Amino acid sequence: MMFSAAAILSAVVAVSANPLSARSDTVFDVTEFEAGCIPHSSQCRYSFGVVQANNGETIPVQCVLLATANGGDLPNVTDAPCTDSSRTFSVVRGTEGLTLTVSQPVSPASNETGSHLLAASDLVTATQPNAEVESYEGPTSFPLVR
Ligand SMILES: *[C@@H]1O[C@H](CO)[C@@H](O)[C@H](O)[C@H]1NC(C)=O
Ligand SMILES: *[C@@H]1O[C@H](CO)[C@@H](O)[C@H](O)[C@H]1NC(C)=O
Repeated sequence: MMFSAAAILSAVVAVSANPLSARSDTVFDVTEFEAGCIPHSSQCRYSFGVVQANNGETIPVQCVLLATANGGDLPNVTDAPCTDSSRTFSVVRGTEGLTLTVSQPVSPASNETGSHLLAASDLVTATQPNAEVESYEGPTSFPLVR
């Protein structure tokens, strides 16, 4: 079978135009992601901006949550609201790290969701005495994929 080099090249150029959304299964793009537990507090904070990928949305929806720490570790979160938006986010801890999922209703019967693994190797526990709290030290911008 023959492929047109020009067609392949133009497809590559189109996909490369937005590096954050290079994958066609990208649903949302996250920026300024922060997650950390607050020393000498029982609270952890998640904060990020999120835009829908590939639809021209430019002003990120802000998602911010203070949640009770799980013994100094970042806790699971279920359907936390984002500001002035129908989007919600969840965080689930597994053996490979924390999976961040953003969900947005598209009809009463279906949601559009995208997820990203925050690798366990990017989760750091501070070692100061009496302040053994976990925080995320990885990339702050990443796509959420189907
Ligand atoms: C977080 O959720 C996952 C999946 O439901 C579960 O396996 C895990 O035990 C939960 N972790 C905590 C600390 O609740
Ligand atoms: C859509 O997402 C919301 C919030 O996460 C959830 O409560 C609801 O059950 C989901 N609906 C479907 C059809 O998955």
